[in-house]
Amino acid sequence: MKFNIALLAGDGIGPEVIEQAVKVSDAVAAKFGHEITWKPALTGAAAIDAVGEPYPDETHDICIASDAVLFGAIGHPRFDNDPSAKVRPEQGLLKMRKKLGLFANVRPTFTFPSLLDKSPLKKERIEGTDLVFLRELTGGIYFGEKGRRDGGETAFDNCVYTRVEVQRLAKKGFELAMTRSKKLCCVDKANVMETSRLWRETVQAMEKEYPEVVVSYEFVDAVAMRLVQWPNSYDVLITENLFGDILTDEASVISGSMGLMPSASMGTDIALFEPIHGSYPQATGLNIANPMATVLSAAMMFETAFNLHEEGKAIRDAVNKALAEGIVTEDLADGGKAYGTKEVGDWLAANI
Ligand code: IPM
Ligand code: MN
Repeated sequence: MKFNIALLAGDGIGPEVIEQAVKVSDAVAAKFGHEITWKPALTGAAAIDAVGEPYPDETHDICIASDAVLFGAIGHPRFDNDPSAKVRPEQGLLKMRKKLGLFANVRPTFTFPSLLDKSPLKKERIEGTDLVFLRELTGGIYFGEKGRRDGGETAFDNCVYTRVEVQRLAKKGFELAMTRSKKLCCVDKANVMETSRLWRETVQAMEKEYPEVVVSYEFVDAVAMRLVQWPNSYDVLITENLFGDILTDEASVISGSMGLMPSASMGTDIALFEPIHGSYPQATGLNIANPMATVLSAAMMFETAFNLHEEGKAIRDAVNKALAEGIVTEDLADGGKAYGTKEVGDWLAANI
């Protein structure tokens, strides 16, 4: 098959980890007889510097003309420490999600047998964890009206959801649950928030369409606690944008490193694949960042966007082998030998 893939490296360690994912994807393409044409485009601080806009129209045009988007990371400390900055790299990420209609962010959390001892959580608690968060990505507090009043002394961020937004995300959750253990957890704060009550009411009304799925409704604070106590008790979790942002960072601890967790963002049309970690500015250019989350995002791309499961498995197998043999970056080296970002990428490509 022939694919055009938009390549948005972004900021910080983005370009370094993306380079490894490209290398590994090209190795997969060579092995299975596919042809990938990469279409690089600007995003984030890099795009602000070049054209004054974190998600330029040219980048959007390249994305919609492609078969999938592979994304690195966005964010630069120059903007974090300047609350008055007019344009911020993160705005590019949000604009991109909105304009590409990427409403469902799929964030799996699984454990790697060779890393069970690396997690700060007890091995017997996390063994066998295999759960998926479906985080709503284009609504909620991220996109509600925000601003200041009272001469800047009061600030507000509105959280808004429509029933349709909840339904389309929940539908994906029910469908995913049907392909797994038929267990779905709706995470909300329905004891306090009106948007959460709309979520709960909407999901409850959909239950009859999926009689085999057992749905539980849990408050986000309780989930935050149970997630690290009994991660094994969860399978598919659906939640709104901000809760999903926070809980998926928490869940990444289960796997042993944030540098391992991939994600897919699906919409009506195109899908985007990106690691869940950020731009890790302190590590930029040092060849120390873990490329595996981005490499595994490429595996999700082969599987979900192109329906090529053997190709995805080839990548997963190479990553598992690297972890088992200790071909890892410093976040996982645990006092042992740490390999560079590039060396891990080379090893993975050679082992496809
Ligand atoms: C993520 C990130 C983003 C988010 C930031 C960079 C805006 O943390 O993808 O989880 O909050 O969605
Ligand atoms: Mn986040």
